[in-house]
Amino acid sequence: MKTFLRTILALVVLGVIALVAFIFVPVQRTGPVTELAADYQPPKGAGEYVMRASDCMACHTAEGGKPFAGGRAIQSPMGTIYTTNITPDKETGIGTYTLADFRAALYDGVDKHGAHLYPAMPYDSYRKLSEEDIRALYDYFMKDVQPISNAVAETKLAFPFNMRFGLRAWNWLALGKAGFQPAADGDAQFNRGAYLVQGTGHCAACHSPRNPLMMQSGSNEKDQAFLSGGEIDGFSAPDLRGPQSGPQTWSTEQTAAYLATARNAHSTATGEMMLVVRDSLQYMTHEDNMAIATYLKTIGSGGHDGAAPAKVEANDTEKMLTDAKADMPLGPRLYIDNCAACHAVNGKGAGEIFPELDGNSLVTAKSPKGLISVILHGAELPSTADRPMKVRMQGYDDRLSDDEVAALATFLREGWHNKAPAVSNADVAPVREEKH
Ligand code: HEC
Ligand code: HEC
Ligand code: HEC
Repeated sequence: MKTFLRTILALVVLGVIALVAFIFVPVQRTGPVTELAADYQPPKGAGEYVMRASDCMACHTAEGGKPFAGGRAIQSPMGTIYTTNITPDKETGIGTYTLADFRAALYDGVDKHGAHLYPAMPYDSYRKLSEEDIRALYDYFMKDVQPISNAVAETKLAFPFNMRFGLRAWNWLALGKAGFQPAADGDAQFNRGAYLVQGTGHCAACHSPRNPLMMQSGSNEKDQAFLSGGEIDGFSAPDLRGPQSGPQTWSTEQTAAYLATARNAHSTATGEMMLVVRDSLQYMTHEDNMAIATYLKTIGSGGHDGAAPAKVEANDTEKMLTDAKADMPLGPRLYIDNCAACHAVNGKGAGEIFPELDGNSLVTAKSPKGLISVILHGAELPSTADRPMKVRMQGYDDRLSDDEVAALATFLREGWHNKAPAVSNADVAPVREEKH
């Protein structure tokens, strides 16, 4: 009995020591991945370009707030997380951050005081940034951004998520080697695209599935789950690699156009992706958007042995809509009355203005939330340098009941070449409440 108690005691002591070490051993801060000359100066304009590519402004600016002054609320499964003030203000911003502090925030997800940041800040992607780009960003934030005094709301998550040191274990598992590893068999354009997708653009934050510990599946194309579709705020971020996905069925020019202007001959970007285009991708050079499109095309996971993607047989939707018999069910009837004038009876819309609904990833998405949201609340395409005209589709929330929206959405998900599960009116009610 005595030995038993002694063993228990020893185990408890060991456990406490391990826990204390876990909490108090100083955090690791990664140094530069390449040594640059001491007098290295980033090229003019480089900092702003990397900031756009990384979309820092979108998250770190509150609605109606000053740029980079923080305070935007990000809804996470753990609770609300507020972004911080990253203007060079000395009291409330990052004015006292050294280059090493700044790099540690982007590479290791730790702030100046060594506290772990929540991965709502996508440091698992920014960890791939080159030292040149880190220097350009630092220079931009310290010299070009206006300091703004703005104390933002403190993030207060419920136990155990308020224990920031717990993120250490997460980081051990989730973070790979710092710096970008170019693919040996990829050319310069492929690797530029890979860098922009995996690093700055943090596309996988939305487009990759997450495991039960909320970690992105895969950090590059070698993992088949990488960019195979994810979720953001209940909306589906589609698969970018499968044989039926946009980047695999569109030409690289068309994908690049989608990234630069939120529209192409087939589809339009709505919701979160519209914001990514509006705030980030429209500022990329044509070469860079082509590099992204080429990278996405090259990593397609479909068409095994180079076979063309299997084309699903179309059903007789178009004929049913054209004949418009009196006994036509509710879904198609609502489509003719409300939608066909723009999106057409063949579901092909009109290139670059009215998106195709046949084969559209938003229509057939795993979660029908995006489709229901567009029907109820409408959608707007941003004005971009290449396509200045804003285009809007109105919402139908004042005209269609939950049952009608469900019938219409179900019709779209089963019409033409589409094959996605039906929508129920219980799916519609929650989306009606939240205006996106
Ligand atoms: C997807 C949203 C998102 C994007 C994009 C983003 N951040 Fe953040 N960032 C956050 C959140 C959220 C926090 C606070 C996390 C916390 O409280 O743990 C944060 C924290 C930080 C911090 C720590 C600040 C402090 O006050 O201690 C720095 C520095 C930072 N971000 C810089 C950047 C830079 C530079 C970029 C662009 C390269 C960027 N962020 C892009 C969400 C984002
Ligand atoms: C904040 C989340 C988020 C980020 C970050 C994001 N996306 Fe998206 N993306 C989405 C959502 C949601 C959609 C669906 C929008 C729609 O169908 O209208 C989408 C749609 C797309 C599509 C169209 C696919 C199709 O089949 O219709 C492409 C291509 C795309 N994204 C590429 C990218 C690339 C490249 C990046 C990184 C540079 C990126 N996305 C970053 C959320 C995101
Ligand atoms: C007056 C013309 C017009 C009518 C009528 C119309 N739409 Fe649209 N629709 C548009 C335009 C323009 C867009 C592109 C806006 C955007 O995506 O931001 C769009 C976008 C969409 C999208 C998003 C596609 C994507 O790729 O993201 C869906 C889904 C959609 N419409 C369905 C419908 C349905 C269902 C109806 C009938 C209830 C309807 N539309 C009626 C013009 C119209």
